[in-house]
Amino acid sequence: TQKIIIDTDPGQDDAVAILLALASPELEVLGITAVAGNVPLSLTALNARKILELAQRQDIPVHAGCAAPVDRDLVTAEHVHGKSGLDGIELPEPTMPLQEQHGVDFIIDTLRSQPAGAVTLVPIGPLTNIAAAFRQAPDIAARVKQIVLMGGAYFEVGNITPAAEFNIYVDPVAAKEVFGSGVPLVVLPLDATHEALTSADWVQDMRNMSNRCGPAVASWTDFFERYDKEKYGSKGAPLHDPCTIAWLLNPKLFSGRQINVEIETEGRFTTGMTVADWWGVSDRKANALFIRHVDRDGLFALLTDRISRLP
Ligand code: BDR
Ligand code: CA
Repeated sequence: TQKIIIDTDPGQDDAVAILLALASPELEVLGITAVAGNVPLSLTALNARKILELAQRQDIPVHAGCAAPVDRDLVTAEHVHGKSGLDGIELPEPTMPLQEQHGVDFIIDTLRSQPAGAVTLVPIGPLTNIAAAFRQAPDIAARVKQIVLMGGAYFEVGNITPAAEFNIYVDPVAAKEVFGSGVPLVVLPLDATHEALTSADWVQDMRNMSNRCGPAVASWTDFFERYDKEKYGSKGAPLHDPCTIAWLLNPKLFSGRQINVEIETEGRFTTGMTVADWWGVSDRKANALFIRHVDRDGLFALLTDRISRLP
């Protein structure tokens, strides 16, 4: 099994990613660190616990990390995810506690206590916590197996500004540090995740499942779909964040290139852009596997199989 830490700002698609990980025996979720993003930190830390309780996994610790980027105000996305961040279904108030330890310290301690090269980080929100951990404890970067993240866009350009994807835009300085960390990176940008669109049939299959998690996934994707329908005229909800977990489970579902990706932190119109050298026209060193396409049918078959195993 692969050991992972999920760093997240739930978010309906974050919730599906977490459920996919919990349902997969190939993965051991060591902990969940919450970060501010889609909604403020207090809500993402709350939502993470609601999701774990839905899946009856109160044994997994949830730690709250950073409440905002170091050098700028937090940008949130209630216009996409609703006021709670997890609109679509009312989940009960969680009874499991939030851990006292700060999320950044949890990341540092876990990487130091686990064997070097054993832990994969899966950031599916802004990169604030991960960058803070690397800044506070420079020794840990060499101990990370890889970082598999959702963020960025190149051919599909932006969803929060014309040039930038949300997770990178919220904290471009953190993203720049993570992309420059030397840790092997797998990047799931909008180019791939906008192909991961739910279909009406698939959502119906989720709704018909006899467990609790299937119908919850259906109500989340129903809610999430509204925004993309209005905005992009797309049919279905893009399951951005679950692509990271799916890549870990079956990388053959994805195709991409090992390329150089730099983060714009100062552009007048382009702050937060992932400048991806897809065509290899610069002499900058490759630092990321940048995913371009996903096998949509394969992805949704995997999701159906796994979500059906949950309570
Ligand atoms: C990313 O931003 C958030 O709104 C989603 O949860 C996803 O992580 C997509 O741009
Ligand atoms: Ca997210």
